[in-house]
Amino acid sequence: MRLLIKNGTIVNSDVTLVSDVLVEEGKIIKIGNNIQPNSLSDKVIDATDCYVMPGGIDPHVHMHLPSPAGFSSDDFLSGSKAALQGGTTTLIDFVTPQKGQSLSDAIDQRKLEAAKSLTNTYFHVSPIEWRNSMEEEIETCFKNGFKSFKVYMAYKSSIGLNDDVLLKVMKAVGKAGGIITVHCELGDDIDELRDKLADEGSLSPEYHPLSRPAKFEAKAVKKAIELANKANCPIYIVHVSSEESLKYIKEAQANGQAVMAETCPQYLLLNDSKYLGNFEQTAPYVMSPPLRKKEDNNALWKAVADGTIVTIGTDHCPFTLNQKERGKHDFRSIPNGAGGVEHRIALLYTYGVLTGKISINKFVEITSTNAAKIFGLFPAKGIIEVGADADIIIWDKQKENIISALSHHSNCDINIYEGVKTVGTPKVVILNGLV
Ligand code: URP
Ligand code: ZN
Repeated sequence: MRLLIKNGTIVNSDVTLVSDVLVEEGKIIKIGNNIQPNSLSDKVIDATDCYVMPGGIDPHVHMHLPSPAGFSSDDFLSGSKAALQGGTTTLIDFVTPQKGQSLSDAIDQRKLEAAKSLTNTYFHVSPIEWRNSMEEEIETCFKNGFKSFKVYMAYKSSIGLNDDVLLKVMKAVGKAGGIITVHCELGDDIDELRDKLADEGSLSPEYHPLSRPAKFEAKAVKKAIELANKANCPIYIVHVSSEESLKYIKEAQANGQAVMAETCPQYLLLNDSKYLGNFEQTAPYVMSPPLRKKEDNNALWKAVADGTIVTIGTDHCPFTLNQKERGKHDFRSIPNGAGGVEHRIALLYTYGVLTGKISINKFVEITSTNAAKIFGLFPAKGIIEVGADADIIIWDKQKENIISALSHHSNCDINIYEGVKTVGTPKVVILNGLV
């Protein structure tokens, strides 16, 4: 069956135009005015007054992430359902091996876990240690189509890397022609500070942000950029949360280094006032990096608008209140993370486009096109054009919603955007040509 989308306003990152779109066998096969359905079996979708945009690509999610509090509460089925509901048709999650496990073994295992995903699903691969075979393992990943690698400077006791290993991994990824994505927070400094706070009896969630100050992120950003430069490896800095970090990113970009930056809706829209209150009110916001100041929100919005930040991921990693309660008496034991995959596009539309902070084309660029370009999915994805995959959002510009854990599709009883109003929602989501 063919799909004919009539009278919508196509929005790409570089152009906006009113046109019809014809889809067959999962691909966009024609764009033009007055395309007529040529058989009774063609399905026609009226997109009058709607935007027709490339399906969202969320380049940073953690479904079914193991933690001492159990797996993050969305598996690939529930998480991908939530994603589709919000207009995201492609997810990029992570392969994180066990110590001693080869990267290819870990990839095979993760692929099985992700088999029930309803979206297109890809992975960044995380070397969590160095061994003699690592360079070859990275090359093999690359040959098998895994070209993006993720390293952690935080979480030193589990998956975080020391600087010498970080450099070796970056050199290997650079040599293979891949890209390194980095969680920038100084792990050792954080561990020291959080233990000091705990020793002093400062154990409630409000101490989580105090144990991971913005300067630890900024210093890690600076260091990661320097190491990537030395290793001749393109670097993508995940979830940038602070103004201080932007300085180093801008500097490196101005010097011509391949440095890309991502932020998340929570760092644009929420601030550290969320850590004031009782455990139930504050624990949902325990994530790393933590929420920062309003000034940081503003600086990040500017960086999105001026192109310093090129993508918005969610770092979707929900935990239920019961799971968060593992750290009821010690914030260090609260599993880090929060959901958001369902809300990313509506939040950015409402608080970015409708407030005039970003144009509708920039909105498409940061929710879809740039992630496709950076992670090797373009032009199959990230654009509405003939030959592209039919991953399409038909966007109702008017429909209002109030976000709530009672109505969201994520498998979680809390939502960090509880009560937040949005305007605009997908009317229809098309994934590989299927509604
Ligand atoms: O708090 C967070 N972000 N949890 C998910 C894991 C990570 O650090 O990205
Ligand atoms: Zn993450």
